[in-house]
Amino acid sequence: MNALRIRSASPADLDAVLAFWKTAAEGTSISDDRAGVERLVARDPDALLLAERDAELVGTVIAGFDGWRCHLYRLAVHPDARRQGIGSALLAAAEERFVALGGRRGDAMVLDRNERAQHTWKAAGYTPEPQWSRWVKPLVRDGDRPGEGAPLC
Ligand SMILES: CC(C)(COP(=O)(O)OP(=O)(O)OC[C@H]1O[C@@H](n2cnc3c(N)ncnc32)[C@H](O)[C@@H]1OP(=O)(O)O)[C@@H](O)C(=O)NCCC(=O)NCCS
Repeated sequence: MNALRIRSASPADLDAVLAFWKTAAEGTSISDDRAGVERLVARDPDALLLAERDAELVGTVIAGFDGWRCHLYRLAVHPDARRQGIGSALLAAAEERFVALGGRRGDAMVLDRNERAQHTWKAAGYTPEPQWSRWVKPLVRDGDRPGEGAPLC
């Protein structure tokens, strides 16, 4: 099997990434639009990691470090490329970035019904903390941003 390459996304990749998420990601996130990913890459050019094989995009993860905590989002692997270690390789690359920046612990939001994802996070050493709930407050109205249906995360 050809080698996997993991690299940071550039602004030129963003349309392909948004299209990829429609096929590969779990649901839709509140930031899944051109303005959302442009802002991410402008603010932290190494946060969006892409996995490529033969120059084809096969996986993504966002490794966001705000100086305080290390948050992982948009872990997604193309349906035809799953169970080949790509998700694990993306998580390893994200963790390497966090450690280099001084991060101490990675965290991710994982849907209770997403058993496949739970297997993946567990295999990478993550454990759930059921004592927490997620508390949210939308800062923009639904009509103020493009999107399809209710965003998940
Ligand atoms: C979750 C996801 C990213 C995993 O990517 P992947 O490249 O297939 O994962 P890996 O091949 O690195 O798997 C690593 C380990 O996770 C576990 N795992 C992954 N998928 C699994 C599945 N369907 N069933 C059981 N265990 C699984 C296994 O332990 C696996 O190791 P193994 O293949 O040696 O047994 C991929 O299935 C995906 O994109 N799903 C849709 C998007 C999604 O749900 N993202 C997570 C949001 S929180």
